Amino acid sequence: MIKIISLLENTSSSPELKSKHGLSIYVETSNHKILFDLGPNELFMKNAQKLDIDIKNIDTVIISHGHSDHGGALAKFMEINKTARIYIKESAFDGHCTKVAGIPFNVGLDNALRNRQQITFTSDNYVIDDELMLFSNVTGRKLFSKANNKLFAKKSGKIVLDEFEHEQYLIITNGNKQVMITGCSHNGIVNIIEKYVEIQNGSIDKLACVFGGFHLFNPITRIYESDELISEIAEYLDGLNVKFYTCHCTGKKAYKILKDCMGEQLDYFSTGTMIWRDWR
Ligand SMILES: [Fe+2]
Ligand SMILES: [Fe+2]
Repeated sequence: MIKIISLLENTSSSPELKSKHGLSIYVETSNHKILFDLGPNELFMKNAQKLDIDIKNIDTVIISHGHSDHGGALAKFMEINKTARIYIKESAFDGHCTKVAGIPFNVGLDNALRNRQQITFTSDNYVIDDELMLFSNVTGRKLFSKANNKLFAKKSGKIVLDEFEHEQYLIITNGNKQVMITGCSHNGIVNIIEKYVEIQNGSIDKLACVFGGFHLFNPITRIYESDELISEIAEYLDGLNVKFYTCHCTGKKAYKILKDCMGEQLDYFSTGTMIWRDWR
C-alpha cells in the first residue's frame, strides 16, 4: 500500500488545513516516510500535525527543483529533523529569479544550505533503493508552457533563461506498477512522461498514476496558457492509460479545461486529499 497526502498546495479541502502557493506532498510506503517538497514556509508542518504526521519520523526528502515555493522551508525542516536524507540536484542552489516590470525578484533557495550534511546531490538517473528512483535531464520541448519564459537562473554570474535542468521527478515502485511525482513540471508534463518512457525502454505500461502541478499559469501575473495549449495537453494525457492528480501551478481555470477533456482520468489534489491504495 502507498499513502499519498497533499500536505500543502494552493487550495484546501478543509477549513482546518492551511493553503498557500507552493507544494508539499507526504508519501508513506512500507519502507519509507517521504516528503516530496516542503512548500514555501513552515505551514506544511502545521498541516502535518493536524493530520497526525510526525515530521521527526520523515526519513527521505525530495526537493523537486530550486524554487522557494517547493524548498523554502528547507532550513526549518532541518532544525526539526536532523536525520532525514534530502535529495536535490546541485543546480537547484544556483540563484533563481523571475522578473517583475524588468526587475529581478528572487524565487530561489537559500544557497547557504547547500553544504549541509543531510543533503545529497543527485545525478540524472539516481536510484535511492528498490522502491525509489529519481530522474531528470528532460530536454524535450513539446507543448511547453510559456509561463516558463519569465523564469531565470544564475549561471556563471549571469542571469539567463532557466532551462530547468535542476528539476527532478520521483518514481515509486509498488509491485509491478509505478507512481510518479513531478512537482511543478516546468519541463512540461508531456516531455516528462516521454523521458519516463525512454528510461523504461519504450514502455509506459508500468506507470499507474502521476501527481504534480502542470505549470499552466504564471502565479505573479495570473496569466494562463492558451486554451488551445491546455486542450492539446489534455488530449495527450487522455490518450494514456494513466491516472493523474494535479494541483498547485496548474491553476483552477486550466484544471477545468483538462477535467472537461479527461473526465475520471484526472482529479484535483487539494491540501488534505489522501490517496491510499495498492497500485500493483
Ligand atoms: Fe517552480
Ligand atoms: Fe511551484
